Amino acid sequence: MSKVKNSTIETLPLLELKNVKKNYTKGDHIVEAIRDISITIYPEEFIAILGPSGSGKSTLLSLIAGLERPTDGEISINNESITHLSEDERTILRRHTIGIIFQFFNLQDILTALENVEFPLFVCGEEPTARRDLASSLLTTVGLDNLDHRLPHELSGGEKQRVGIARALVNKPPLLLADEPTGDLDSQTSEEIIDLLVSLPSTLSTTIIMVTHDEEALRSGMRVLLLSDGQIEEDFMYEGDHKQITERLEQL
Ligand SMILES: Nc1ncnc2c1ncn2[C@@H]1O[C@H](COP(=O)(O)OP(=O)(O)OP(=O)(O)O)[C@@H](O)[C@H]1O
Ligand SMILES: [Mg+2]
Repeated sequence: MSKVKNSTIETLPLLELKNVKKNYTKGDHIVEAIRDISITIYPEEFIAILGPSGSGKSTLLSLIAGLERPTDGEISINNESITHLSEDERTILRRHTIGIIFQFFNLQDILTALENVEFPLFVCGEEPTARRDLASSLLTTVGLDNLDHRLPHELSGGEKQRVGIARALVNKPPLLLADEPTGDLDSQTSEEIIDLLVSLPSTLSTTIIMVTHDEEALRSGMRVLLLSDGQIEEDFMYEGDHKQITERLEQL
């Protein structure tokens, strides 16, 4: 198993993909959505995945989330293979290990902000006072003091996404997956949401994997994966050079 060594501690990978492939059958032909991806991700990394439409970004997130099974290869979280888990085992894994943030928020319309955030704890059978306290403190963490009792239609897009982020964090998952979390927001609000996400690895020890079309969402220190045709073309630390990314994406 690969390990990173710094001066004092050895950090074990949070997530490992080994020769992962995913084919879909479309009519009488096969789409190779993920061709062959191997990658190791460590705790508290912030990974940004970019690439052309159809390059396999959402498929990769679905495989990591255990929503779909790879056609071939191995995916391990905390050194445990998730590839051969049953449907029920993968649901439990998602509940405790993975938070998911969606582009279109996916909030329950008839539940308040607080109830939306509480909902995953309700599903886990958490006691009412504990779940209310935790949901309320997370709404504060995401900057939504005093909006606990608003319904989704009474919230702005950015506020809805903050509720979505709080909900994704409520089970304290070590891994947060986000597919285009700013795709439905204006540029100012997108910036605020990215700033919030970027703060999470250090404040809550979360690892984040974010798919984005938006080069403005990149921040120095993010690890960028450029995907093309179901493969990782580049894997590098972003150092603030937008132009370099734009040029590389144009070549893909
Ligand atoms: N359920 C499916 N059945 C058949 N083909 C699929 C399915 N899901 C994805 N694909 C195909 O797999 C490839 C990768 O799709 P994917 O959705 O992962 O791309 P993407 O990089 O997320 O694109 P976008 O930027 O448009 O969201 C595409 O060719 C797509 O048509
Ligand atoms: Mg997609």
